Amino acid sequence: MANVVAFGLQWGDEGKGKVIDLLSEFADIIVRYQGGANAGHTIVVGEQKVVLHLIPSGILHSGKLCVIGNGVVVDPSVLVSEMEELKKLGYIGDDRRLKLSAFAHLIMPYHKKLDLYRESAATGRKIGTTGRGIGPAYEDKASRLGIRVIDLLDKKLFAEKVRENLKIKNFLIKRYYKAEALRAREVIKEYDGYRKVLKKYVADTPYLIQEGVRKKKNILFEGAQGTYLDIDHGTYPYATSSNTIAGNAACGAGVPPTAIDRILGICKAYTTRVGEGPFPTELTGAEGELIRQKGGEFGATTGRPRRCGWFDAVIVKRAVALNGLSGLAVMKLDVLDEFETLEICVQYKLGRKLSTQPPVSLKGWETCEPVYERVPGWKTSTKGITRFEDLPLNARKYMQRLEELAGVPIDIISTGAERTDTIILRNPFASKG
Ligand code: IMP
Repeated sequence: MANVVAFGLQWGDEGKGKVIDLLSEFADIIVRYQGGANAGHTIVVGEQKVVLHLIPSGILHSGKLCVIGNGVVVDPSVLVSEMEELKKLGYIGDDRRLKLSAFAHLIMPYHKKLDLYRESAATGRKIGTTGRGIGPAYEDKASRLGIRVIDLLDKKLFAEKVRENLKIKNFLIKRYYKAEALRAREVIKEYDGYRKVLKKYVADTPYLIQEGVRKKKNILFEGAQGTYLDIDHGTYPYATSSNTIAGNAACGAGVPPTAIDRILGICKAYTTRVGEGPFPTELTGAEGELIRQKGGEFGATTGRPRRCGWFDAVIVKRAVALNGLSGLAVMKLDVLDEFETLEICVQYKLGRKLSTQPPVSLKGWETCEPVYERVPGWKTSTKGITRFEDLPLNARKYMQRLEELAGVPIDIISTGAERTDTIILRNPFASKG
């Protein structure tokens, strides 16, 4: 019995969807604690592929309580269509299984517009965002202009807040971006529709989760994006606008840090990144292409090809310390099956200096060079292997080396997209520690 945070150690897309889906079986409550519809968690169940952007993947398991926490920025248009899709597939039978935090902030149409205009403007830095309005929504939250889910339930107050916000947003949209202003009436009408659908799901979620803690329920806190997209600890400004690290699970769900027992960090057996920003181990040639094709490395939210590269132990080691990991989940090992040799980045070279810590400045990130250790590949299929002993010797050695470099035990190894393509060495829910 334990409460577990499962989250990404790299630049997102580590395969969190699959791990969270697997672990959900052992949890009573599954909580998303940050981010928004910029995330895309892909889960393969038999013939069905389900991509979830907002609803915790625990919804695919019957009888689990799924919570969209206070730290999430919620696009009601995405949430409503995701709910419809899941209902069509027969997944949300009982509406009481889904709770939407009254404290969560709403993504409004002007957030999405501003995100896109900003990214396409000739001036300024292009971040390569998902265009889902995440940054502008968190900006409004921090500047106390945000509109929360609880405000949506009060028709009059909501309309007032939309009108007030649009005065400023339309000024920017018209004057600065030279685009068409949004009409308050239309926005209010659109959101009236969402109110009707969503109101029955709205709850004081921190209280609900705290009650779960008190009753010793198993709680799974589900992270989105990854450690190096964290607004404080990532490759700023090429980052998302929330704290993605495990430390934010408590804040974004509304429970004390002491409620968390285990921290499972998820990484791929290699590295990927989508969008702009530094990526020291990126492979721009044929090797990167092989990983991309074999790993199906295309964004679940935007369809963009992901940048691919070797495993970077420098970033993972720092992420282990930053997040206080109790275990690792290493995903997509089978993607590396065809390589003659593999490389693992063990240090960075900055000028003439070697370092085992990532740089602090953006310039450092952009100019550092990876120092590699070469290891032999296994040239045999590992797809679908479920026991560590059945892995080819070199694959076992590769896993042991990653474990050694990270300094924490590997709990889970994934050898394919299916739930069953998994080696479970230690179930994080099995014991506290
Ligand atoms: P935003 O979160 O849409 O503002 O995008 C900021 C950066 O984070 C961009 O580089 C995105 O590509 C990246 N990003 C956001 N969400 C994800 C995700 O779920 N997986 C991978 N990258 C993401």
